[in-house]
Amino acid sequence: MRIAFCSDLHVDISKNNWELVPHLAEVLKMVDPDVFVLAGDVSPELGDIEYTLDIFSRVPCLKLFIPGNQDIWVLSEEMQEQGHDSYEKYYFFLPDVCRRNGFVPLWMEPTRVGPVGFAGSIGWYEALPGFADQGELEETGEAARLRDSAWNDMRWACWCDIAALGREGIGPLRRTNEEVAREFNSRLDQDIEELERDPSISEVVVVTHFPPFQPLGLWLAGRDGAVIFPGSRETGAILLSHPKVVLSISGHLHERGDVMVSGIRAVRCPVGYLGEDHRKPQSIVEEKLAVIQLWSEADLSRGFELA
Ligand SMILES: [Fe+2]
Ligand SMILES: [Fe+2]
Repeated sequence: MRIAFCSDLHVDISKNNWELVPHLAEVLKMVDPDVFVLAGDVSPELGDIEYTLDIFSRVPCLKLFIPGNQDIWVLSEEMQEQGHDSYEKYYFFLPDVCRRNGFVPLWMEPTRVGPVGFAGSIGWYEALPGFADQGELEETGEAARLRDSAWNDMRWACWCDIAALGREGIGPLRRTNEEVAREFNSRLDQDIEELERDPSISEVVVVTHFPPFQPLGLWLAGRDGAVIFPGSRETGAILLSHPKVVLSISGHLHERGDVMVSGIRAVRCPVGYLGEDHRKPQSIVEEKLAVIQLWSEADLSRGFELA
């Protein structure tokens, strides 16, 4: 089975990002995979996501989508005060956009292709980097971008506590990151569990926007100086607790990744921010789409080869 994947298209960030999408779709048609996985961060605007998924809808293969943190932002304080929140996007608007454009909303509908099961979640994080000491830290590049991303999540990712809505004098209360991470992890755990219980499924692929394992060479410091991981350690523990999970596809980090973690191959292939990239889209596109060959168990026990 050939699985093509990418993430972090960020079509709202620059003209280069916007214009890359049709080129990605053309290359994808030539690659002709069995499955295409888009692992989140297309745009905070639903219209942009609709445009993007519509372009990919013409590629004839199974297409799976998982939202990223920017896809669930509610970019208007007025809307937030009226009770529009990230849950509304995550559970209603985004699944609708997916279904209208030929994508499976994987976080709502775990799916399978022959003996391979697919499950997914946004994979929210438990802890944000500390901010009090921001000025003292010399973070650059990817670490600085992740800190900015966390700042923006604090403002625009709005996971409302439904129980508090409508009580007099209380505006929409937000749930903590720990609560959100626990909720999504629990659902992901159940979805994988269900796939694993099916004896005809021999391998499971898990897609999350946030990386489930600590990336090498990247750190963010918390207030107490402790290293903060830009994902949920619990998500990683869940993947490792299920023996049929062989592949993790994620995004959020704007650097490619490909590591083995206790028998699970963990990969990322983000597009990232292309504002400063002056190459032609034809040149950029080659490095923004990855393909993995998932061999059946009979061919090679728990093994892969990068195509
Ligand atoms: Fe991103
Ligand atoms: Fe992200």
